[in-house]
Amino acid sequence: MDHFQYHQGQLQAEEVPIAEIAAAVGTPFYVYSTATLTRHYRLFDEALAGMDHLVCYAMKACGNLAVVALMARLGAGVDVVSMGEYLKARAAGMPGERIVFSGVGKTREEMRVALEGGIRQFNVESEPEMRALSEVASAMGRVAPITIRVNPDVDARTHEKIATGKKENKFGIPIGRAREVYAEAAALPGLEVVGIDVHIGSQLTELAPFGAAYAKVAELTGLLRADGHDIRRLDLGGGLGIPYERSNSAPPQPVEYGEVIRRSVGHLGCEIEIEPGRLIAGNAGLLVSRVIYVKEGEDRRFLILDAAMNDLIRPAMYAAHHDVVPVIEPAAGVEQLPADLVGPVCETGDTFARQRPMPPLAEGDLVAFRSAGAYGAVMASEYNARPLIPEVLVDGHQFAVIRARPSYDEMVNRDTLPPWM
Ligand code: LLP
Repeated sequence: MDHFQYHQGQLQAEEVPIAEIAAAVGTPFYVYSTATLTRHYRLFDEALAGMDHLVCYAMKACGNLAVVALMARLGAGVDVVSMGEYLKARAAGMPGERIVFSGVGKTREEMRVALEGGIRQFNVESEPEMRALSEVASAMGRVAPITIRVNPDVDARTHEKIATGKKENKFGIPIGRAREVYAEAAALPGLEVVGIDVHIGSQLTELAPFGAAYAKVAELTGLLRADGHDIRRLDLGGGLGIPYERSNSAPPQPVEYGEVIRRSVGHLGCEIEIEPGRLIAGNAGLLVSRVIYVKEGEDRRFLILDAAMNDLIRPAMYAAHHDVVPVIEPAAGVEQLPADLVGPVCETGDTFARQRPMPPLAEGDLVAFRSAGAYGAVMASEYNARPLIPEVLVDGHQFAVIRARPSYDEMVNRDTLPPWM
């Protein structure tokens, strides 16, 4: 469920008409709903009720300061994967003890900054990283709390670019070698082993792969405890999928996912962490765009929009589907005709949808891409020298720009000529 619905024929974000935001900030733009973000966070929090837990929002999905600040106020933690995300989380008011640091290539500088600023744990992904972290922490007179990310060799049954839990993927250490690696970690002076981490992929639409991975983690917990490690925390990653197509059957709900967690690891007495990103932010955001032209091609109709692949890369990158709806509600029973939805960027890949049934639309009309709150704005670029588009947050009847559109001057002047030119 989200808070983007038609009221009296107008698409609204909570109580604010989308057309009103478009008039104020211009198109294209992203808009997020506070109520939807809040609801989705709470669904996870409630799904883990009765277990000691922390929902660590994966801010890579939507890293705007205001969104992370909202999560901090709701009591969430955060999963960060770079120094930039770490610093943004701190700037958003996220306490260090609620920040987990993931990622296969943490640099020594990133480690230092996080140790200095406060950190809940590092999710370590390799032996060289583990040794580097121990050195950095020791040099600072600190001990770094760690989990080790294990690769359980489980097929997440999702798009190949976002599956992470198979042995051929770059993530984690092979689960079969975990005991050996934990033994080394325990012997390193700068580290304190606190638990195990696993994350098998994103946009999972079935629970079975989670169940399979978590069962392996449960078994490993027993083995590592027998080896003398104090395994008290399990970070179970993110990955629960969202319904991108309203017409399709919906993926499992957080409460069902919570049941899988309870069944597989609930008896171990560990503190549970999860790192959902997409499910919290995805359906809490729209990308709003205007039709520039309607072009009749030889055999098809093109709706040329002012949003492009640089603003929302998911269709070009993963062949992802986003529902696109008109901001003015079409009359009931109006005929839908196929159209190709494209942006102005100079490559054929700049196509959002092919032969998509759409109600009649004309130049100047507004449309909204649904499910664009996750991996939308954060993956945007300035390709074709198109400035990054603004982000807007709605809360009830109020809205605010939470990232302004840069001016053309700002964009142009960021580049400089070398002294010899
Ligand atoms: N934890 C770790 C270690 C991750 O790598 C990810 C996502 C998450 C949590 C959050 O997963 P989520 O709950 O959002 O599925 N750009 C792609 C998705 C990349 C996901 C990367 N890792 C897309 O647009 O589909």
